Amino acid sequence: MNIVLCGFMGCGKTTVGKILAEKLSMKFVDVDDLIEQEQEMTISEIFEKYGEIGFRKIENETIKKVSQWNNAIVSTGGGSVLNNDNVTALKSSGKIFFLDVTADTVLARLKNNTTRPLLQRPDKEKAVNDLMNERRSKYEACADFVITTANESPIICANDIIKLYKKIK
Ligand code: S3P
Repeated sequence: MNIVLCGFMGCGKTTVGKILAEKLSMKFVDVDDLIEQEQEMTISEIFEKYGEIGFRKIENETIKKVSQWNNAIVSTGGGSVLNNDNVTALKSSGKIFFLDVTADTVLARLKNNTTRPLLQRPDKEKAVNDLMNERRSKYEACADFVITTANESPIICANDIIKLYKKIK
């Protein structure tokens, strides 16, 4: 059974995922990193070359592939659960943990970030708020568990997930 982490950009999926992998001795995969390796391009370059639609196709193929794996921690991109086909694949492979985060935290963490094409807008605050409002219900709907990350360190979030995982394993 995989542990799938979903949630908005900057919610801590990768950081928490790496801690989980270490503590549970499971392999870790970050879907965006895998896409970058396989395409030999950064996510920004993929968006530039193929547009968001092209990126979503590659993301879908990659998610279907990693959903064949077992006993992995899967860190997904923030937009992946908008596609029902991705959710079906991810759910068939394990349990989805939604790392909930506030817009303020995302903005503070990604203030100077240049690697998220969807946030490269003059009004980053509006971009984050709009996307979060659009997506919140999707994250909640696909999640088996909601992890509130507010004011918690990644280690505490990882420990919360481990407790839940051990109950359902
Ligand atoms: C995206 C999130 C990014 C990456 C791409 C699109 C999104 O991943 O997949 O930039 O639509 O929210 P992270 O959530 O890892 O930043």
